Amino acid sequence: MKIIHAKDYNDLSRKAANIISAQVILKPESVLGLATGSSPLGIYRQLIIWYEKGDLDFSATTAVNLDEYCNLPPDNPQSYHAFMRQNFFDHININPARVHIPNGMASDLETECRRYDQLIQSLGGIDLQLLGIGRNAHIGFNEPDSCFSKYTHKVALSESTIAANTRFFDREEDVPRQAISMGMQAITQARKILLIASGPDKADALYACCFGPVTPQVPASILQLHQDVTIIADEESLSSVPPMFLFLPPSEGAVVCVNAGTDQKVTEGMR
Ligand code: F6R
Repeated sequence: MKIIHAKDYNDLSRKAANIISAQVILKPESVLGLATGSSPLGIYRQLIIWYEKGDLDFSATTAVNLDEYCNLPPDNPQSYHAFMRQNFFDHININPARVHIPNGMASDLETECRRYDQLIQSLGGIDLQLLGIGRNAHIGFNEPDSCFSKYTHKVALSESTIAANTRFFDREEDVPRQAISMGMQAITQARKILLIASGPDKADALYACCFGPVTPQVPASILQLHQDVTIIADEESLSSVPPMFLFLPPSEGAVVCVNAGTDQKVTEGMR
């Protein structure tokens, strides 16, 4: 696990967009796992700018999104379908046939979940998975639980997630209580994972994700077992990480490496 320190949200967004950009340039037919929420907005804005400049071409790229609310039609402005169109897909040259988001309106949600897993498998898995992190350390909508959910599944959103997502709706009672989320198998089989964290309300979750025990009560902690995880975090979200884990002062940029599968921490500097 590599933790790259970003000065602020803009710095975080540019650094993360650079990694996604490199992925698409090196492998134009990449399968990108994408996230919604506030955290990736700056990344999508940056990628659109580079696309408009002619630096990026998404025509061969495939997108698979992490999740979608149940019972919100795709044209509902709060749906993740609408979010992705408005904030990213409508502004780049991705082929709409290569855009995949779970169908929260499916009459048989179990069948929809199986379809989504088979789809990801038929695409050959995910090359680069972008993740935000919830205040309770959820990734996708994999909420704290007694076990990790392996497959795409229907989720009852936790009270903290409903409270956090109320900001996107007029009233709390409008926030859907259920969602479909990609499971941990597809996420952890992604060849590379890029997790972004911004703001003080992510500090505890980020610390637990990187340095706490691997437990389904902290869903993001499963990433400690993955061989290629890059975390880009701003100063506020790194506030719970003890300075001893930062090799260089934050102003000079720092990378913290936590060895996958062990609690041994290795630090190294990067400029
Ligand atoms: C959304 C998703 C969620 C968010 C998380 C953080 O597709 O997968 O796990 O990444 O809830 O949300 P923000 O970025 O709004 O703080």
